[in-house]
Amino acid sequence: IGQKIVFQEVVTSTQELAQKLAQEGAKEGTVVVAEQQIKGRGRLGRTWESPKGSGIWMSLIIRPNIPPFQAPQLTLLTAVAIVQGIKKATGISCEIKWPNDILINGRKIVGILTEMQAESDRVQSIIIGMGMNVNTTSFPDSLKQKATSLLIENDGKEINRAQLLQAIFEQFEILYIEYLKNGFEVIKLRWESYAVSLGKIITARTLTGEITGYAKGITDQGVLLLEDYEGKTHEIYSADIEISS
Ligand code: BTN
Repeated sequence: IGQKIVFQEVVTSTQELAQKLAQEGAKEGTVVVAEQQIKGRGRLGRTWESPKGSGIWMSLIIRPNIPPFQAPQLTLLTAVAIVQGIKKATGISCEIKWPNDILINGRKIVGILTEMQAESDRVQSIIIGMGMNVNTTSFPDSLKQKATSLLIENDGKEINRAQLLQAIFEQFEILYIEYLKNGFEVIKLRWESYAVSLGKIITARTLTGEITGYAKGITDQGVLLLEDYEGKTHEIYSADIEISS
């Protein structure tokens, strides 16, 4: 992982460039990193603020030989790699909020966006995008309650972005090899141990409405299992969640 790094000062989105490179046959492990994104993409069609200099904006191309329905497992694997990489490089502990936000003290520092290309029943490539607020010193008022950075959580001390990224790639590689060899089991256990949203009452806002209930766990495909007050279990594929208690 990270054997080939494509670095750009400014891009529209590292996802977009990585997708293009993947279509042109870029090897597994190719990474696109940028100092600044003009049109960073977030989940659910949102934009992602990617100012110059303070964050890590990167996309990684992988080509696992798996069926498309298993692709969400790689998002969870990435979240585990990031939590472990941050811990190794900085000593800071993070939590994971389903599906793939990484938080410190309830505020988001990393967002992950996974996009897949598949042909018939096989994955061709998965582009894993990671946006991390590293040395961001302040956020606009609209984000203050929701977002934080590693610098803010590290008593204002700057973090070396290259070292941090290196630590994350190392963790990713260890977990990815484990995953290809032995499947999702171990990764899932790790993910659950870092998850803040499980075993709690949460509200999931989906495109079709809102469900509040008890977050029972995740399936082997990374789908959230939510039990409502009537005891019915819902499978949540995509949503924003809010933790009540
Ligand atoms: C989210 O909405 O939480 C996911 C945000 C993902 C942002 C990253 S930054 C690098 C990569 N390129 C993009 O355009 N988006 C992802």
